[in-house]
Amino acid sequence: MARTLVLWLLGLVAVCAVHGIFMDRLASKKLCADDDCVYAISLARAQEDYNAPDCRFINISKGQQIYVYSKLVRENAAGEFWAGSVYSDSQDEMGIVGYFPSNLVKEQHVYQEATKEVPTTAVDFFCE
Ligand SMILES: *[C@@H]1O[C@H](CO)[C@@H](O)[C@H](O)[C@H]1NC(C)=O
Repeated sequence: MARTLVLWLLGLVAVCAVHGIFMDRLASKKLCADDDCVYAISLARAQEDYNAPDCRFINISKGQQIYVYSKLVRENAAGEFWAGSVYSDSQDEMGIVGYFPSNLVKEQHVYQEATKEVPTTAVDFFCE
């Protein structure tokens, strides 16, 4: 029985390795402007460069503008992370949503306050 479970888990890991992978959740809750987190909360500008430590995060260059879609609710000693996408003319960066430390950016324009608390799911931290 235990052996079957181990094999099954190994199989699951193998499938994830091929098709993408579910990473650890950074937080269990997030704040959004709406229930589905589809509307931008704000437009922010990066005050510093940021190198994504893994595929959950996005690379940011100082001066870039970022649409913020959700704000993770800080847990324990972890820093505060927001999810967003870089606003850019270049097609390859446009539309990729990832996390970044909130203290690296300054909100310039708040469209709507993030008042909806939504639980995060594994898909929020899925890496391709
Ligand atoms: C971030 O940039 C580095 C190169 O500077 C690259 O290797 C890495 O894949 C990029 N990460 C993401 C998540 O785009």
